[in-house]
Amino acid sequence: MDETRFDRILVTAALPYANGPIHIGHLAGAYLPADLYCRYQRLKGRDVLFICGSDELGVAILMRALEEGTTPQAIVDRYHPMIRDSFARFGMSFDYYGRTTSPVHFETSQDFFRRLDEKGVFKLKTEKQLYDPEAGIFLADRFVRGTCPICGYEDAYGDQCERCGSSLSPTDLINPRSVLSNATPELRETTHWYLPLGDFQPKLEAWIATHPEWKPNVLGQVRSWLQQGLRDRAVTRDIPWGVPVPEDVARRHGVPAEGKVLYVWFDAPIGYISATREWAQQKGDPEAWRRYWQDERTRLIHFIGKDNIVFHCLMFPAMLMAHGEFVLPDNVPANEFLNLEGRKLSTSRGWAVWLHEYLEEFPPDLLRYALATMLPETRDADFSWKEFQQRVNAELADILGNFVHRTLTFAQRFAERRVPPLRNPRSVDEEVLRELATFPERIGSAYEQFRFREAVQETMNLARLGNKYFNDTEPWHTRKTDPQACANTIHVSLQICAALGILMEPVLPFAAARLREMLRLEGVRSSTPGGEGQLGWDDAARPLLPEGHEIGRPEILFTKIEDEVIERQIARLEARAQQAAAKTDGPPYAPLKPEIVYDDFDRLDLRVGRVEKAERVPKSKKLLRLEVDLGFEKRQILAGVAEQMAPEDLEGRRVVVVANLKPRKMMGLESQGMLLMAEDREGRLVPVTAESEPGAVVR
Ligand code: MF3
Ligand code: ZN
Repeated sequence: MDETRFDRILVTAALPYANGPIHIGHLAGAYLPADLYCRYQRLKGRDVLFICGSDELGVAILMRALEEGTTPQAIVDRYHPMIRDSFARFGMSFDYYGRTTSPVHFETSQDFFRRLDEKGVFKLKTEKQLYDPEAGIFLADRFVRGTCPICGYEDAYGDQCERCGSSLSPTDLINPRSVLSNATPELRETTHWYLPLGDFQPKLEAWIATHPEWKPNVLGQVRSWLQQGLRDRAVTRDIPWGVPVPEDVARRHGVPAEGKVLYVWFDAPIGYISATREWAQQKGDPEAWRRYWQDERTRLIHFIGKDNIVFHCLMFPAMLMAHGEFVLPDNVPANEFLNLEGRKLSTSRGWAVWLHEYLEEFPPDLLRYALATMLPETRDADFSWKEFQQRVNAELADILGNFVHRTLTFAQRFAERRVPPLRNPRSVDEEVLRELATFPERIGSAYEQFRFREAVQETMNLARLGNKYFNDTEPWHTRKTDPQACANTIHVSLQICAALGILMEPVLPFAAARLREMLRLEGVRSSTPGGEGQLGWDDAARPLLPEGHEIGRPEILFTKIEDEVIERQIARLEARAQQAAAKTDGPPYAPLKPEIVYDDFDRLDLRVGRVEKAERVPKSKKLLRLEVDLGFEKRQILAGVAEQMAPEDLEGRRVVVVANLKPRKMMGLESQGMLLMAEDREGRLVPVTAESEPGAVVR
């Protein structure tokens, strides 16, 4: 962090909707990186405030209540404590975890709205909106689905298309239908407050231009929003669950306030401010929140998943600019999505690993570590149970755990559990100590740049260095041949363990605490709020354990996970998915296209072809290059399926080819035809195959 510009860091993690439990996708998107960052910064001795809370208002919650036949209050009262507690057990080190149904939040967001209204920021528009005549309710946002006008996805929500990411208004949808009753909505007149984001575009562009250091995936999305041109966004809704539009504001405009609430994406980010106010009140210094929100020397950082980028990089900043009294985010290190076992996470389809269930079976540190190595930092990433097992067994147990254990065991057996003196060190010893000294800076700079995978890998590299040193110096030999060399190995190895006791703290806080206990290493600053202690991150660069210091007994830090334990997890996941598939009808089928006549069909020349060769096209994520034998001739065909299938899935198979399609060039190669593929409702592709000889006509 640039200390010449900033005195303190305010970190927020996206407020999760309190309408379901937390899963690994949430953790990988926002929460784990935010926690790694805060814990690191606290160890660096910086003034950090880490804010989160439950997002409890708006359509998503109301919808869940209607589905379950209960009230939205009952929903949030069930999930808020559940989420808060599972976060705590996972080791999330929030300074404050609030909720947006709190009185402070209602007041804060109403004041914010009033101030913008008084400053004349909003436009009021009276317009016809979608109304469900059967349910008797206006269909805001997710209450309506229909076809995306941008990409044609048939199941887009009224506020956003999940396929192409476009932000939409309900009336943009083609063929809209009510999610509540399936009725075709009618248009009814209603008045709403709009935030004219288009008016803010020049200011937003100028501000974004001052942040070339933001992650490319974030800047990419932001630029594409700006390129499309920002549009006015309604910031009020006609739904019965939310922060009411203040009476006085409505009266001023002669609009009935009745039934109108603030749009959830207006109030929720203000929840960061409300939660900070509550934190300040709780610690008996009610004005302390201002330091974090209103002082230029605060560095504000929002951790979010990629579906939240537009709100945190454009809409909320526009609100903050309009208000005028708040700092703007200095960075928004959003992550991409995490898939699970090669498929998109989906709570409705039972395809998820739930945090509270995970914690019943495994220690939090294992998931923190494994996830940290798989974070979708620059592109979507995949979590698999096998890889989880691999990370735990081959890295945590075999590298880190093993190094600590052999070091402490040697210290116990051959040094009476005391740090032996370092005498006449050889160059290996000195070199390792010199290298050790570079780790805090090296790991730290990865944390500073939001490169968490790298930070965690570098942390493990320190344990790797320890193991290599231990192997190279062979203390099991020197013990007999050169006792001082053996003592030196134990001394240096213990110093590496002590450094690990600090440097592994952000990612493995529970194991780090146990390690420090084994080493009886005291005085290390806590990475959780309000922690005291003299020793911090940078101190890990120097030997921390004095000669003669007594240490404890070695214990196992990480136990390996057996295959059957992992197989049980996978079986449970599959069973869930099947259950979910049986319960719901699954995703909708693609709608039928308009009718055609036989002649339309007859214009296609479909042939059986044998795929003789299949290979990836270099530098292309999507394309496979196929050589297909049509019997009477060979064709080169490019298929955009490399993300869904491997060359082996096609090689040797007899497929159906559109043989009279006009050739076209892709990535400099000519594609002479097209393969028929069946796409199921989950988006999985299977080639259409035929048993006939190559060249056979399909009709
Ligand atoms: N609840 C939203 C989601 O899960 C995130 C809200 S972030 C906030 O996508 F800024 F609005 F609070
Ligand atoms: Zn779309």
